[in-house]
Amino acid sequence: MSPLATRAANIIAQVSPDVHADFALKREFANDPDLTPQDKRDLTRAVFAYYRWFRWFDHTSAVASRVNTALDLQRKFESSPSSVNPAHLSERALPAWALASIDFPSSAARTAYLLQLQREPALWLRPQRAYSSSLARILKPNSAPQSEVLNFKFQSAALSPTALRYEGQTDLFRTDEFKQGLFEIQDFASQLVGHACAPLPSETWWDACAGEGGKMLHLSDLMDNKGLIWASDRHTGRLATLRKRAGRAKAFNYRPVVWTGGPILPTKTKFDGILVDAPCSGVGTWQRNPHARWSTTETDVKELAEIQLLLLENTRKALKPGGRLIYAVCTITRQETTDVVRAFSLAHPELEPIPLLGLPAPKSGPATGHFLWPQELNANGMFIAAWRAKTA
Ligand SMILES: C[S@@+](CC[C@H](N)C(=O)[O-])C[C@H]1O[C@@H](n2cnc3c(N)ncnc32)[C@H](O)[C@@H]1O
Repeated sequence: MSPLATRAANIIAQVSPDVHADFALKREFANDPDLTPQDKRDLTRAVFAYYRWFRWFDHTSAVASRVNTALDLQRKFESSPSSVNPAHLSERALPAWALASIDFPSSAARTAYLLQLQREPALWLRPQRAYSSSLARILKPNSAPQSEVLNFKFQSAALSPTALRYEGQTDLFRTDEFKQGLFEIQDFASQLVGHACAPLPSETWWDACAGEGGKMLHLSDLMDNKGLIWASDRHTGRLATLRKRAGRAKAFNYRPVVWTGGPILPTKTKFDGILVDAPCSGVGTWQRNPHARWSTTETDVKELAEIQLLLLENTRKALKPGGRLIYAVCTITRQETTDVVRAFSLAHPELEPIPLLGLPAPKSGPATGHFLWPQELNANGMFIAAWRAKTA
């Protein structure tokens, strides 16, 4: 058995309902300073291939041998997607409950989604706006502005070409450009959430589920480090990481605050814009994190949809007249997307659904938000909806 398969099998042996595969990998890397960036990449590929092809192999064989089978399947699939039986894709790539919870716009979209789910994910960078062209130059030929690599349907002057897709081998976290805060690793779909907010430098925003600050840092850059962003989360540890990242990016226009999502808001301030990047099942990230396909449950989806609705309900009270509320989730289940939006819109006729990213509103019926599909973006699946508080 190859040393890679054996070591990957050891990491897989540590995975449990409480220890997810990405955490087991992180811990392994932290405990072994001799691992090179290439070793880490290979181990990550092997462990994730194992969970991507989890339902394709014989579970009586040794784990290391399953790892080899998974890597083989991945290689074959990447060079010839038709090597995989399409019926197997829908039966094996994800749990049946999850597939049934996604409303695809067409059967072609469903097939394309399933194929995308089995590909290795793309790596996206978000350069600070002032450095986007110089970074694209520095990272070439291993990166390309999204305008060059994608026939992207939302492409507009306002969006392009800030996102960069990176295909090189450098450990980006060790580059001077990263240490100086000139770019972040941020999925393309997540970057589109920032563009959907489109905050102005003169405005006051609330990033209500700011977590470690991925979107908050983008909002700050879009606001030219001016105005103010209240950045709240229920986890102090995540806010501590947010502060560290903001220091690196030299972002100063924010105020971190703990808020646990209840009806008592962290401030009496009324906002021009509120982003609720809500906790969700993460089904949209299953290409990047295939272990989650087998650890996420239908109950998670149901419980999270309730929390999402509650967060919208509590945050909307802080909107200024004319202010915008943006709802984003990195999932594509019906329960956490269109169902939440319908229920919230119905309860709040004083909020008017508004279009985003230049996308057309539906021809009939109420606006229910927009899906960002992995198969269209080569990125995470996300869902975004927005409302404006009507002025009297
Ligand atoms: C999707 S993550 C946010 C990611 C973050 N916006 C970013 O771009 O890096 C959702 C966040 O919501 C927070 N959260 C979960 N339940 C919450 C609640 N009831 N109130 C406030 N924040 C909550 C979690 O701690 C988590 O950091």
